[in-house]
Amino acid sequence: MNTRTLKIRTKERSSEYVVEIGSGLLPETGSWLQSALGGRTRIAIVSNDTVFGLYGETVADSLEDSGFRTEVFLVPDGEEFKSLSNAEKALEFFSGARLTRNDCIVALGGGVVGDLAGFAASIYLRGVRFFNIPTTLLAMIDASIGGKTGVNTSFGKNLTGTFHQPSGVLTDVSTLETLDPRDFRAGLYEAVKQAAVSGGELLEDIRAFLNENADAGRAERLAELVFRQVSFKASIVEQDALESAERSDSRSRKVLNFGHTTAHALEKVTDYSYFNHGEAVGYGIIAASEISKRLEICPSDSIDLLNDVVRGVGVLPDASSISITDVLGAIERDKKASESSVQWILLEDIGRPVIVSASEIPPNVIRESLEHAISRRSNG
Ligand code: NAD
Ligand code: GLY
Repeated sequence: MNTRTLKIRTKERSSEYVVEIGSGLLPETGSWLQSALGGRTRIAIVSNDTVFGLYGETVADSLEDSGFRTEVFLVPDGEEFKSLSNAEKALEFFSGARLTRNDCIVALGGGVVGDLAGFAASIYLRGVRFFNIPTTLLAMIDASIGGKTGVNTSFGKNLTGTFHQPSGVLTDVSTLETLDPRDFRAGLYEAVKQAAVSGGELLEDIRAFLNENADAGRAERLAELVFRQVSFKASIVEQDALESAERSDSRSRKVLNFGHTTAHALEKVTDYSYFNHGEAVGYGIIAASEISKRLEICPSDSIDLLNDVVRGVGVLPDASSISITDVLGAIERDKKASESSVQWILLEDIGRPVIVSASEIPPNVIRESLEHAISRRSNG
């Protein structure tokens, strides 16, 4: 399979970075980094037990074969370990290994590892280079690019973080073969989110992917899906990398948070231990679509189409026992609360996101839309 290459340039950085997407790329990690780094750079690989157990040796061997000295820092597996205390442990590790500003961090794993490693890299010695090797679909299409890093704290998800663009991203879709189907679906929900704000073509990609069951050519189809998703995210990030607070147009980076107002609240009220992030986004898409429908700003057939695709991804975990009052409380405390009002990303149509202040939405519409979303599973 040919490797697809995409360059991302933001005005905050003097140089662009390259995203390579293909299959069977991990054994080439060393030569990939050699072309980016040259020299005798030392590399700290940040990963978790699960992913390192599967792919760590391939990556570390390839780096060592290319002349890099590697150190390995592993975090336990799980969203709850994306914490300040683990970021501090990573910093202590880098310092103990005497990494300098010429050295770099490589994140090998899903979004949890990438967010944590990127955060630690951004503050270690006031910022060292980091490279992403995403191994979940969600991280491939979303978390590994764009430079948002962070950890969860007692006051909310991802509320402590930085913008620190990676220096390169190596995406090997063959790693998805070992991903649990539930985690794979999580990536597809996140893909539906990007399709909802991007337009019908990305939605069609997902529908076509869901309808095509054959194993033959699966890696090729996945690489194409990832490439097209990353291309869209890059087009948003390139012109609003820092998610400017002032912007509220349809190309603002804020639109990538479609579905996330509800998703973060659902994750928070269930202590980050019931839904995976993508599943919470699945519910978030249904809730934001329902608000758009009830406000009569979006044609209902577009909402039906979007819900169909969410349903096509699979069954979401039952959320019917979750208290709407708790969810509304968590939404109020969400990071996207701007001054006195939460900003909802809604749809005027597929591919036409609009940012609406909660103060402009009747409270009963929000409550009833949330009730509608969580009282039924996506296939109900
Ligand atoms: P994750 O990192 O927890 O990975 C899911 C599970 O899959 C984990 O158990 C992991 O060990 C396992 N895994 C990873 N790769 C594997 C592989 N190839 N084979 C087998 N198992 C594998 O979850 P995720 O869905 O990748 O990421 C979710 C996180 O990403 C959340 O913390 C979310 O906030 C963050 N996120 C960040 C951004 C961003 O822009 N920075 C965007 C979206 C999501
Ligand atoms: N995942 C949303 C963003 O990167 O902005």
